[in-house]
Amino acid sequence: MNVPFVDLKTQYASIKSEILPAIDDVLESARFIMGPQVDRFESEFARYNGTRYCAGVESGTSALKIALEALGIGAGDEVIVPANTYIASALAVSATGAAPVLVDMGDDYLIDAGAIEAAITPRTKALMPVHLYGQVVPMQPILEVARRHGLRVVEDACQSHGARWNGKRAGSIGDAGCFSFYPGKNLGCYGDGGAIVTNDAAVDERVRLLRDFGQMKKYEHAIKGDNSRLDSIQAAVLNVKLQRLDAWNEARLAHARLYDEALAAAGFPVPKRISDEGHVYHLYVTQVDGRDDVRARLSERGVESGIHYPIPIHLQPAYAELASLKGRFPKTEGAAHRLLSLPMFPEMTAAQVEYVVDALRAAVRPMQHA
Ligand SMILES: Cc1ncc(COP(=O)(O)O)c(C=O)c1O
Repeated sequence: MNVPFVDLKTQYASIKSEILPAIDDVLESARFIMGPQVDRFESEFARYNGTRYCAGVESGTSALKIALEALGIGAGDEVIVPANTYIASALAVSATGAAPVLVDMGDDYLIDAGAIEAAITPRTKALMPVHLYGQVVPMQPILEVARRHGLRVVEDACQSHGARWNGKRAGSIGDAGCFSFYPGKNLGCYGDGGAIVTNDAAVDERVRLLRDFGQMKKYEHAIKGDNSRLDSIQAAVLNVKLQRLDAWNEARLAHARLYDEALAAAGFPVPKRISDEGHVYHLYVTQVDGRDDVRARLSERGVESGIHYPIPIHLQPAYAELASLKGRFPKTEGAAHRLLSLPMFPEMTAAQVEYVVDALRAAVRPMQHA
């Protein structure tokens, strides 16, 4: 059996009859930038998330950068970011001119809220909780620290479309929530795409200026903005796929429950699920010794796997200025050699889940006897 890491081809086959006419409508209308498909997506995604506003942008990275800028963050400021995240969280901070300040993860792989306060300096302007792997960071302590220190909260919800905390959707809890629609995401388009949701009219207004050359109206530019708009063909794809998001997330949760049971029985670490509604399993992450050998053996058995992420941000050449922090984030650094992401996509079958766990058991066995 072959089990891919994600299977966008099978998903496309299941929605092709709706996707093609939706794309064709855009082509026939010749409204390629902004227009009705983008308007519809923005209002439906705002409604889905329970926010007053949503603005489409060109990517998740751009969503984070623009949200930070809309909140007034820039050169000389600091933003607190987890050490265990995709580098784009930190790159977006750097792109505003501010500096990312890293905090270690807890046992749930999410930012350790208890370690945030010690990282705050007079320059700190915002906290960026990242709802990693599809699970919302427990937000109460984050909101309390932010309130105590007068900080803004920008949620990186790029891996957690539809996840919930306290009945609220990921992205709707802080000052702004940022999404990526990169193809492999729980809600993905067929290229790059992103969005910013907020309940704050002033933030939304600023975001709309920043994503569109700073234009108040055509050829009148109030500020130095970006060209960062969600394109209409991607919005048309998202309008079809948003209708399926909850069902797809439920399927992911069902697969995760099967994985949990089988991995626990086989003695592998089961990723902590804080609550069922809170987790939409963008990624299903376990840990193994000798991870790279295990991956090679899985691959021989037809099972694709991933690593999220192999090199923490402060150990990346791009962040050489943070290299002296080596050793300061022991949980993130320790896990980086052991993390293993198993195949996870809505269209998976129970037989595939079972096959992956059997293959993992067999891939680890030679190591245990080594
Ligand atoms: C946690 C996180 N933040 C930010 C991003 C950036 O999104 P994009 O690739 O759309 O720029 C991603 C995904 O790539 C992500 O997983």
